[in-house]
Amino acid sequence: MEIDSAYERREHSVVKHALLKGYLEKLLFIMGMTGTREIVYVDCFAGPYKDERSDIQATSIAISLDILKKVRDALATHGKYIAMRAIYVEKKKSSYKRLKGYLDSNCPSGIQAFSIHGDYAEKTDEILRLCGNNSFAFFFVDPLGWTDVGIPRLSKLLNRPKSEFLITFMYDHLNRFVEKAKLRQQVHEMLGTLSDGDYQKIQSLSPKDREEFIVQKYREQIMAAMGPDGARRSRTYSAVVKDKDKERTKYHLVYGTRHYKGVIEFAMQSDKAELIQRVVRIQVKQNADPNRSLFQPEEEAEHLDDARVDIDEVKHYWLRKLSDKPAAFDEAKLADMLEETGWLVSDFEGAFMALQADGKAENMDAKKKRSKHPIDFKKGEQLRRLT
Ligand SMILES: C[S@@+](CC[C@H](N)C(=O)[O-])C[C@H]1O[C@@H](n2cnc3c(N)ncnc32)[C@H](O)[C@@H]1O
Repeated sequence: MEIDSAYERREHSVVKHALLKGYLEKLLFIMGMTGTREIVYVDCFAGPYKDERSDIQATSIAISLDILKKVRDALATHGKYIAMRAIYVEKKKSSYKRLKGYLDSNCPSGIQAFSIHGDYAEKTDEILRLCGNNSFAFFFVDPLGWTDVGIPRLSKLLNRPKSEFLITFMYDHLNRFVEKAKLRQQVHEMLGTLSDGDYQKIQSLSPKDREEFIVQKYREQIMAAMGPDGARRSRTYSAVVKDKDKERTKYHLVYGTRHYKGVIEFAMQSDKAELIQRVVRIQVKQNADPNRSLFQPEEEAEHLDDARVDIDEVKHYWLRKLSDKPAAFDEAKLADMLEETGWLVSDFEGAFMALQADGKAENMDAKKKRSKHPIDFKKGEQLRRLT
């Protein structure tokens, strides 16, 4: 895999951008096909950041504009003509100048782009005004530090109906400061007020459980601030982006939506990004030591047992969900399971296939053995436990 040199020393951003690209394209296409007439992309921390080239291809600015154009053209071939706007907010003066210059000469025809100079939180009203009341809006919130995405600063945006959010939650940074008394106020703005019991828990948990606990707290705050949209409750999911060369989490990409289909689509893109993540991390190791392996990173990634979750844990979870009375498992149920566990669709599929092979579970609607996707959640197939 050829990693664009603009990602050097920040290779984890390849994963972030792959997820942004993959999900945004799917989402906007689906929204356009299902009746949305106006779409807005909002980049609250636009940059350009760490790409000195004039085409800034390794930034969310160029990536998002490419996607908007691609989706707009694809929708037009289906007779759907969607109004598309993009709003980019950047605080640093020199970066804003580059941003504005880029938009002035590179914005694709048919897309209306706006640049705003300043702190995104102070510009909330202007952002919302540009979004208008009728559009569907996707907010990408990608700060450098953890304090910038505290709930008070984000809440007015989060409360907007017809919106989805992708927020970089700098877990690695927050984790280092979470217990510091001096930073209590900032931590509480992120995670809600923590009790003495919460702090004791944070201290006593294993690194993995501590991460889960802290990310869950942040997700709960995001969901509470979003609130429902009619009968649809807010939902979140999170994708882990690891440090480019260390065996630890760099950040989580926390995704917020009010539609169960969003959770499934985002989880599927996270699945794809997970493979890219493996390849990138192997490539980084190979670049540092070219004699390390005879295999291409893609080949090595295929065989790497880098499972984020123990398959036995997923099997047990399935067995708790199933009963000997057949029950329909549809997309809403899958979204609940994804949200509850943070696992990937492929984790659920792999574990279910293993249970089938062990004679412990059955898909009553599968006429033939399936080699990859054992359950069609779109059809709400009937599953049961065999005892
Ligand atoms: C991590 S970089 C953004 C990277 C970009 N989203 C991408 O994926 O290519 C964060 C950017 O936000 C800018 N920034 C920092 N604080 C900000 C704030 N409060 N409001 C708006 N922009 C801010 C920084 O100058 C920097 O350009």
